[in-house]
Amino acid sequence: MNHANPPPRHVPVLLRRADEILGPALASGGVLVDATLGLGGHAEHFLRTYPSIRLIGLDRDTAALELAGERLRPFEDRITLVHTRYDGIADALATAGLSPTDSVRAILMDLGVSSMQLDEAERGFAYSVDAPLDMRMDPTAELTAADVLNTYSHGELARVLKTYGEERFAGRIASKVLERRQQRPFSTSAELVELLYDAIPAATRRTGGHPAKRTFQALRVEVNRELESLEAALPAALDALEVGGRIVVMSYQSLEDKVVKQMFAQRSASRTPMDLPVELPGMGPEFTVLTRGAEKASAQEIEDNPRAAPVRMRAVERIQEAG
Ligand SMILES: C[S@@+](CC[C@H](N)C(=O)[O-])C[C@H]1O[C@@H](n2cnc3c(N)ncnc32)[C@H](O)[C@@H]1O
Repeated sequence: MNHANPPPRHVPVLLRRADEILGPALASGGVLVDATLGLGGHAEHFLRTYPSIRLIGLDRDTAALELAGERLRPFEDRITLVHTRYDGIADALATAGLSPTDSVRAILMDLGVSSMQLDEAERGFAYSVDAPLDMRMDPTAELTAADVLNTYSHGELARVLKTYGEERFAGRIASKVLERRQQRPFSTSAELVELLYDAIPAATRRTGGHPAKRTFQALRVEVNRELESLEAALPAALDALEVGGRIVVMSYQSLEDKVVKQMFAQRSASRTPMDLPVELPGMGPEFTVLTRGAEKASAQEIEDNPRAAPVRMRAVERIQEAG
């Protein structure tokens, strides 16, 4: 992989809105945690706009950290980059030298794959090009998409395809995968795409989008443990915020957005027992919701950057210490 002089191929999603929400929390400095640093597009904007903030940038992808590090070199005395899954946020803050009294003023999570991961064919995220069935966001992790296809039982495979891909033909695809791998293990995306064309009825193909779309999404979520990681990361991220601190999360698929919505609703609800007529002191909500429902990209932004089409943004602010 040649990372020298990467082309300017990434446009940060909902940048202006993220700034409107996080900006007030950062105006007087403090720490911004970018839990999904990617190519550092959002991070660069915040470092430039708020000269007294410090940034802690996390990513599970070593190649992304390397590229972001180059891009953010002008701010090197204000940044700490950490290779970790975002559910390791608490340890990462400690590693970055943040003492429990240092405050996190803002957290950004721009979930999913980066444009670089999608564009680098050899990483196997795209079904439109033949490549090894890899799909690891962290190239040092063990499990690949080929391992899932070649080793999971019929039941496990069908569950992954149904739950993470919302694939109607999960059982049928799983049967074909098991049949096919007895002859020869899967190694490339073209082999899988060919099987999916065969497994998904032609009538459905006309209405259901590309036949490989849902299966590729499901494998990616499984390989990268995306939902488990998010479910563990959100409470840790919320716990790290000081009063007045804000968090923005951008999701690109409904399962992720559901996790974010539920967690934000739960932490923004009163902790006073339901049967009491008045709020008990200190038992009011810890957070307040800053977004109305899930905010989407404008038609203009989607036209300029089609990858913004599925985004759903939610944000909350801490209004009270944890009880
Ligand atoms: C959409 S990109 C972020 C782009 C970034 N906001 C920018 O402006 O360049 C998402 C990044 O999050 C990383 N990522 C996804 N899941 C992660 C996880 N569980 N832990 C840490 N990083 C993760 C990916 O490796 C990818 O680089």
